[in-house]
Amino acid sequence: MSEAPHGAPIKTPAQLIAAVIAGFAVPIVIIILLAYYVDNSTRTGAGTDSLSNAAVDARTAPIAKVEIRDANAPRVYKTGEEVYKAVCATCHASGAAGAPKFTNTADWAPRIAQGFDTLWHNALTGKGAMPARGGTSPDDYSDYEIGLAVAYMANNAGAKFADPPKPVPGQPAAGPAGAASGAAAASGAEAASGAASGAAGASDAAGAQAAAAMAAMANVPQAAAPASGATQSADASQAGKALYQQVCQACHAAGVLNAPKFGDKEAWAQRLKDPIDTIYNYALHGKGAMPPKGGANASDADVKAAVDYMINAAK
Ligand code: HEC
Ligand code: HEC
Repeated sequence: MSEAPHGAPIKTPAQLIAAVIAGFAVPIVIIILLAYYVDNSTRTGAGTDSLSNAAVDARTAPIAKVEIRDANAPRVYKTGEEVYKAVCATCHASGAAGAPKFTNTADWAPRIAQGFDTLWHNALTGKGAMPARGGTSPDDYSDYEIGLAVAYMANNAGAKFADPPKPVPGQPAAGPAGAASGAAAASGAEAASGAASGAAGASDAAGAQAAAAMAAMANVPQAAAPASGATQSADASQAGKALYQQVCQACHAAGVLNAPKFGDKEAWAQRLKDPIDTIYNYALHGKGAMPPKGGANASDADVKAAVDYMINAAK
């Protein structure tokens, strides 16, 4: 039998050579592919990017970050729209707490009629349930930026106010007209002490002057609001009820912004775990979305009386 068995795959020398080459090449290709597969860096399938630099940085980032701001760096001002969306929309978008609603001309018309300076002034000092500066601090939003937000809101409701003048570095910032006379009137020791606390954080003379103007402005409505003084009668509970009805119920009657609801025993029981002085302090100095004194210019005694009134109603 000289013939190869019938059906054998290799019949010629050329086929033999091809078979030998394939015998080497195929395992080598498989080894190369396996090496690629094992090497992590070439795999990009789902889940494997957890080892990417960005993901590792995010996981190992420190929990607390300190943002260092250069007090002398030129300040970048937010636009009125940005301030509105970040701060004022909380109440003004929905009309919460009786706030004039965004683009609602009926709400805004009587207010616009007061003129821009009055609106700007009221936005800075607060009015009724409207907290001073919408509850922000002068370090976060300057008078100018609050003014831009006022113009933005009013102009979206039919007004044609020009933006307030942009502050010039090194010069005292312009405020609403009338603030200057207020500052002059309250130039006594009272204004100075108010300015000192207000100026904490203000880094330069312009900031301190702006803070002094702010403090003076804050004193004006207080002096001009005999109503709160008059209600501070011997009958504290009457004063508390009056202030509640005037101011606090804007949020506390319906539980706006998660305020503990008037008469809601459960909501108040939670709060009453704190000592009464702590609760007074929250009402006087603010807590979360709760503005200091509810945004009113009432006396400390009246605010405490209003707290007592609310607590008694929830017992
Ligand atoms: C916590 C809710 C709340 C926030 C936040 C808020 N406002 Fe108000 N705002 C009110 C309420 C309530 C009134 C109505 C006050 C009144 O007339 O008694 C009001 C009224 C106003 C008025 C009209 C004042 C007037 O003289 O009639 C202006 C202007 C105003 N807000 C500007 C702002 C600006 C600017 C911001 C953001 C920086 C802001 N508000 C954030 C609740 C809020
Ligand atoms: C603009 C809405 C608003 C107005 C106006 C307002 N509050 Fe509040 N109040 C809140 C909110 C929101 C909370 C819950 C705050 C939190 O727990 O973060 C609160 C909480 C409180 C608390 C409980 C604090 C605690 O946790 O022990 C007291 C007391 C209080 N307010 C008193 C008053 C008084 C008094 C007035 C009127 C002079 C008033 N509030 C007006 C929104 C308001």
